Amino acid sequence: MIVCICNNVSDRAIRQAVSEGVTSMVALRTSLQVGTCCGKCHGCAKRVLRECLSQAVPAQPMVFHPSMMAA
Ligand code: FES
Repeated sequence: MIVCICNNVSDRAIRQAVSEGVTSMVALRTSLQVGTCCGKCHGCAKRVLRECLSQAVPAQPMVFHPSMMAA
C-alpha cells in the first residue's frame, strides 16, 4: 500500500526503514521523505510506524564471553 503519494513511499518501505533502525517520524521523514510535501500522509505514516515498532524485536545487547576471545 502506498502511504505517501507525493513521495511514492509504501508501508513496505516504512517497515524496511524500521528494520534498519528508524524509530521516529523525524527519522522516517529524513530517510524516506514521508510527509515532506503536502503532509496528508503524516497520520497514516505514523500509524504504520507505530505498528512496525510494536512488532519489532528489541535488539539484544552483545555479550562477550571469554571463550570467544581465544583463537
Ligand atoms: S502524501 Fe505524503 S507528503 Fe503528500
